[in-house]
Amino acid sequence: MQNLLYDVQGSIAFVTINRPDKLNALNRQTLLEIEDSVAMAMTDAAVQAVILTGSGDKAFAAGADVAEFAHYTANEARDLSVAGHRIMDSIATAPKPVLAAINGFALGGGLELAMACHLRVAVPAARLGQPEVNLGLIPGYGGTQRLVEWVGRARALEMLMSGDPIDAATALQWGLVNRISATPESLLEDSTALLNRILQRGPIAVSHCIRLSALAAQGDPDGYLQEIETFGSLFQQPESLEGIGAFLEKRKAAFRVSGHRS
Ligand code: COA
Repeated sequence: MQNLLYDVQGSIAFVTINRPDKLNALNRQTLLEIEDSVAMAMTDAAVQAVILTGSGDKAFAAGADVAEFAHYTANEARDLSVAGHRIMDSIATAPKPVLAAINGFALGGGLELAMACHLRVAVPAARLGQPEVNLGLIPGYGGTQRLVEWVGRARALEMLMSGDPIDAATALQWGLVNRISATPESLLEDSTALLNRILQRGPIAVSHCIRLSALAAQGDPDGYLQEIETFGSLFQQPESLEGIGAFLEKRKAAFRVSGHRS
């Protein structure tokens, strides 16, 4: 891969966007490499979760690569947006947890990428925003939808219409990030610790939590029914037999990682 670093440590794949001199701007090649690396992590049985982050100390990703799309035709821009949606959706619905470790600017496509992840941890100096209106554009990788999902329409519209970024403390208060990590050095450590807690739980159950919460976010009325069906389907399965058995025997559950919801 040209623009990404991919490194598996323990059961976590670390995917690092590696264009620091361009503030990790997401050109088409980088987007496609993110898609490939997430797909690789999902099919690798040794990987149980993914952390997405940016290299350098300034940016997670400062947006789509403006220089690359500057001369796009309307059709080319639409195609880029279709690809962006496909890639963000593949992360949002991924069966294993994906966490964005936001080490600096998360702007435009960078914030859209972070919002497609299931969890977000940011450094205090992070700045998050959708500045596309400054270019006479709008977000094209799901930002108008996912920002409303995470922060509500009033705050989303303020961010979308002003283009102004918010700081990490505000993002935490608004629910756009789950946690703030004290320093850039502690960011990956805290992100790993959060994921490791989740990885002690039933992996298939965790996968279903991701899937069902995505239905709620899409306003899918089938979500409640699917919760009922899924709840039932989990009984008398190895994972719940172990979890319930461990509780009754007053011991820690040892979930066999037997795969994830496909
Ligand atoms: N696309 C392409 N290149 C980008 C970029 C982007 N979204 N964001 C930053 N870069 C490049 C800059 O062009 C510059 O490259 P150069 O050194 O070859 O000129 C390099 O990254 C460093 O950026 P610079 O602007 O000099 O850093 P800064 O600290 O002064 O400002 C930002 C940081 C994030 C405020 C500023 O880079 C910015 O506004 N970026 C664009 C954000 C945006 O509009 N994103 C949405 C795009 S749809």
